[in-house]
Amino acid sequence: MDTVGVVILAAGLGKRMKSSLPKVAHEVAGRSMAWRVANIARAAGVSEIVFVLGHGRDKLVDTAAEFGAKIAIQDRQLGTGDAARCGLAELSSKIKEVVVLCGDAVVIRPATIKALLTARRKRKAAASVLTGILPDPSGYGRIVRDRFGNVSRIVEERDATSDIKKIAEVNSGSYAFDRAFLARSLPRLNDVNAQRELYLTDTVIQALEEGRIVVPVPAGDPDEVRGINSRRELAEVGALLVGKKTEALMDAGVTLIDPRRVWIEPEVQIGIDSTIESPVTLTGNTRIGKGVRIQMGCIIEDSVVGDDVHIRPYSILSGARVAKGAVIGPFAHLRPEADIGEGAHIGNFVEVKKSKVGAGSKANHLAYIGDATIGKRSNIGAGTITCNYDGTAKHRTVIGDGVFIGSDTQLVAPVKVGNGALVGAGTTVTKDVPPFSLALSRAPQKNIENWVAKKKPELLAKAGLKAPKPAKRKSEE
Ligand code: UD1
Ligand code: CA
Repeated sequence: MDTVGVVILAAGLGKRMKSSLPKVAHEVAGRSMAWRVANIARAAGVSEIVFVLGHGRDKLVDTAAEFGAKIAIQDRQLGTGDAARCGLAELSSKIKEVVVLCGDAVVIRPATIKALLTARRKRKAAASVLTGILPDPSGYGRIVRDRFGNVSRIVEERDATSDIKKIAEVNSGSYAFDRAFLARSLPRLNDVNAQRELYLTDTVIQALEEGRIVVPVPAGDPDEVRGINSRRELAEVGALLVGKKTEALMDAGVTLIDPRRVWIEPEVQIGIDSTIESPVTLTGNTRIGKGVRIQMGCIIEDSVVGDDVHIRPYSILSGARVAKGAVIGPFAHLRPEADIGEGAHIGNFVEVKKSKVGAGSKANHLAYIGDATIGKRSNIGAGTITCNYDGTAKHRTVIGDGVFIGSDTQLVAPVKVGNGALVGAGTTVTKDVPPFSLALSRAPQKNIENWVAKKKPELLAKAGLKAPKPAKRKSEE
């Protein structure tokens, strides 16, 4: 594949999107169209990728860089033929075959790109074209075949007669070209058509004039030809990609209780015997291990979840790591760099950010753990808060192994609690606690007997309570 280059056409604004963003920068199933197409091209193993950019190119340069792609600038959008000409100029001289992809066609598979290349080579054709039969072909160019089954013309919808419009086989906009042929034919295109554009599809005419053929390659999966031109199609193709993902997951041994009501992006990985309830959203580079249970209402992005983890309902994970056998939620919030150790428990209304929670440690109720390191088998009581922010800077809290933090404790960072220490409930920890010690900060409690009966009898009356007669005062001991 080291003589194969890919040109991705992506200079158009995409008027039908009604957007200030260039069309291919819109996300479909969580990644921009441009990212998806470049990713497919790379997976096909081609050696060079060129993006043809124009409208809103500043929004796309990062994606091009991520794939090591070159950028060709098409200043004026004169048509797909002109865009291909711009892209071709950026390919190095070792490239002998050129795959042209549309930046808005994101369902094509790497294997299909290879099939296009093979079909062209076998027949020594000028080009091969990926085609598909769609239930509704409107908007696409139609494939006109000759009596041998080769392509004799591609006619755009807007240039088509009613007879041609009846043809169900459409042009996907993905092709493999003999480079020398493409280089010869692009400068010869004209704009004598309904859109006054230079059509890449008119290279078919040139091929026939040279006495060469253009072979149609019907897509194995007709969805592969689908382009995205509107927000409706954006949503449809997004759902299509997610649908394919859920099928692949079930085929690979993952249980989806209701596959229609999950949103699992294509790049997410899930191990066998995991069970996903609905509704659940799994996005980005999330990796889920084996035997994991994710209950309803969870949203997990860019997180790594180990084997046998149980994520209870309505938990939100973002950029978090959870090790084997941990139990999370319900209603837990794991934010970036939360790192939950093996078998640890993070319970309801507990928020963890940029903190390591050691193996077997527990924070089961109502806590904020931010910028902290917690050792193994420590217990963080209900209502514990790491006061990590002093209004200008963040500070760390370090808690050792086997520590018991009583309920409603504030840890004013920077502060350390040593191994085996015990912090009494309600303590405000402002000084380091040495290992194996008790820390306590409480105002001594004072009880004033019968104060309510004497000073607020109306409160007792409201509750229908009668204060007992004051007992004879014992001498104070
Ligand atoms: C094109 C094909 C049509 C095919 C359809 C498949 C032509 C003339 N038509 O039509 O046969 O069925 O794709 O989806 O090729 N672009 C540029 N510069 C330009 C014009 C377009 O970079 O000057 C890019 C666009 O950004 C887009 C791609 O080329 O990513 C296709 O352009 P678009 O306008 O969507 O073409 P269609 O009308 O869909
Ligand atoms: Ca299109």
